[in-house]
Amino acid sequence: MKYNYPYLYLGLFFFVLILLHSCSHYEMQKKVSKTSTNGDDESHHKGENCMNCHKTGGKGEGWFQIAGSVYGSDLIRNNPNGKILLFTQPNGKGELKHTIEVDALGNFYTTKEIDFNSGLYPAHQNQSGNLKFMETTIPNGECQSCHGVSTDRIWNE
Ligand code: HEC
Ligand code: HEC
Repeated sequence: MKYNYPYLYLGLFFFVLILLHSCSHYEMQKKVSKTSTNGDDESHHKGENCMNCHKTGGKGEGWFQIAGSVYGSDLIRNNPNGKILLFTQPNGKGELKHTIEVDALGNFYTTKEIDFNSGLYPAHQNQSGNLKFMETTIPNGECQSCHGVSTDRIWNE
């Protein structure tokens, strides 16, 4: 019986080690801050709801507040290097609260803290400055929970 103790302690030691490792992994994922910029090409899963994975506690690197994809008028072509703008009023009126650059693949994402309660109206501005406005406020930043599912993909010229 006496000889079993060292193994018990060894077991406990590894248990604590694994616990610490998984906690620090969790912390690490949480702290990753990521925002797309024009020219970036490190994103993936175009058209999918990014927050299926990039949500609090999810396995995606960075937990996004806002993320999605923009297409050309054929709803297939990438629409790279534009901007997502978030206004406090419809049609570009009110205050411009946030600007998120769209990457080279037509995807956009940010881990920045965003307050959806005040009511935000999204718009997309393409590379040549052409603007398209969403007429209503967004309940959250999961653009692809509606776009490509219950309504068209986000698109611009
Ligand atoms: C099926 C799960 C899943 C979906 C859906 C998903 N991601 Fe990810 N994403 C991951 C995982 C896991 C990683 C970390 C490992 C890797 O780079 O593949 C990651 C990493 C990333 C990175 C960092 C890559 C790097 O090299 O640093 C970016 C940027 C990213 N995702 C953007 C997006 C965007 C934008 C969307 C939606 C259009 C999206 N992801 C959808 C799972 C996902
Ligand atoms: C709750 C569902 C829903 C969510 C979430 C949502 N949208 Fe929309 N969006 C719509 C609908 C429906 C329309 C068309 C009617 C309108 O403009 O309100 C639309 C229209 C648009 C348009 C104008 C038409 C177009 O395709 O160019 C843009 C731009 C847009 N949305 C961007 C976004 C962005 C960016 C996000 C994420 C930050 C987002 N939307 C999240 C439902 C949604």
